[in-house]
Amino acid sequence: MKDMKLSPCSNALNGILQVPGDKSISHRAVILGSLAKGTTKVTHFLTGEDCLRTINAFKLLGVDIEVDNTTLYIRSNGLSHFKEPIEPIYFGNSGTTARLMLGVLSGLPFFTASYGDASLTSRPMDRVIIPLQQMGTSINGRSNGSYLPLAINGGGLSGVQYTLPVKSAQVKSAILLAGLFAEGTTEVIEPTATRNHSENMLKAFGADISIEDTCISITNQPLTATDVFVPGDISSAAFFMVAAAIVPGSNLTLKNVGLNFTRTGIIDVLTEMGASISISNKQTISGEDFGDITISYKKLQGIVINGDIIPRLIDELPIIALLATQAEGETVIGDAEELRLKETDRIEAVVEGLTNLGAEVQPTKDGMMIEGNSVLVGGSVNSYNDHRIAMMHAIASLITQNEVVIDDVSSVAISYPNFFQDLTSVCS
Ligand code: S3P
Repeated sequence: MKDMKLSPCSNALNGILQVPGDKSISHRAVILGSLAKGTTKVTHFLTGEDCLRTINAFKLLGVDIEVDNTTLYIRSNGLSHFKEPIEPIYFGNSGTTARLMLGVLSGLPFFTASYGDASLTSRPMDRVIIPLQQMGTSINGRSNGSYLPLAINGGGLSGVQYTLPVKSAQVKSAILLAGLFAEGTTEVIEPTATRNHSENMLKAFGADISIEDTCISITNQPLTATDVFVPGDISSAAFFMVAAAIVPGSNLTLKNVGLNFTRTGIIDVLTEMGASISISNKQTISGEDFGDITISYKKLQGIVINGDIIPRLIDELPIIALLATQAEGETVIGDAEELRLKETDRIEAVVEGLTNLGAEVQPTKDGMMIEGNSVLVGGSVNSYNDHRIAMMHAIASLITQNEVVIDDVSSVAISYPNFFQDLTSVCS
């Protein structure tokens, strides 16, 4: 246990930060770089624990991956050289590793066993297993194959037409990855758009993928190795955007942050709340937009957040809840029942934590109601081993009257290993 006592920040936040690489894009770079024959170089890779799990999975399958600081060299001899792993694959805390790898492992013609940590073991896997079984893979596991640990006898897949019953990019991506191994065409129909990094990167690796309205289709085909640049993670930048928005006098610039439309709901929310926020130096590489975000302190207004924007900011809702405690009036978050199925039940964890600090927050079945203009007193909070909850509490401590004690902050290494160093650097 690594508990941490954080004192309120007596300074405004100022300066320029480069946040670490995007977690979703980093996972996909390892996956597609491993499936493609040849050498793939990945720059500004996120060396957080979750992405290291994906690297480890492919190492066990026989792919040569060298990690040099934030640069990766993936040297793959192609699918025909993948080997049956002699040990179970450990996915740790990483839902993205688990769900996307289940898509890949279903296509490989051999046996694999896989497991995760306590949090991942309690998260639903049937959302990917049901479509993968329809494609013909044999998956067995706990609770009739709904949860890890799982055993897969892969190979022999056929294409499927599948309408996503949940708004999940992980499920969409697992099916598309399995589609690369399947006989015939695989079609995924997505009623609400979710992050499209898999589609963008598949195109960058030369895949013939068709995207028409809500229907994405792919066929069995080889990929071509290419170089990948990973923009900064907007989900990590969000902690500093909110910090600058709530600490009087602050002004921060966050460099090279991913601005893919399927991820920028946090910018729309800040704008609707009245924030002083601007974007400059916008560029696009391999279909991924990125640029610099500058944000400064301003008193904001509470709003309603629900509907199709939710998948565009699902991971930012804990830090948005903190932001809402400082706005004028009430903020209502709805249609976000998926929050209950993240690394922890993020509705309960946010409500409990912010309430302990002095805010007025009520849980609802699919979100929460947050009173604005709260004076945050401080106190003891639990991160539930969830990186985004731990970082939300750390940002809250900037504006509390007294110290905040977070039970365990080791989980920040999942997505933002240098979070506390970066926080100190803009706070002093
Ligand atoms: C992710 C998709 C989202 C997100 C997660 C990363 C991805 O999960 O919450 O942090 O990389 O595809 P869901 O697919 O469960 O919505």
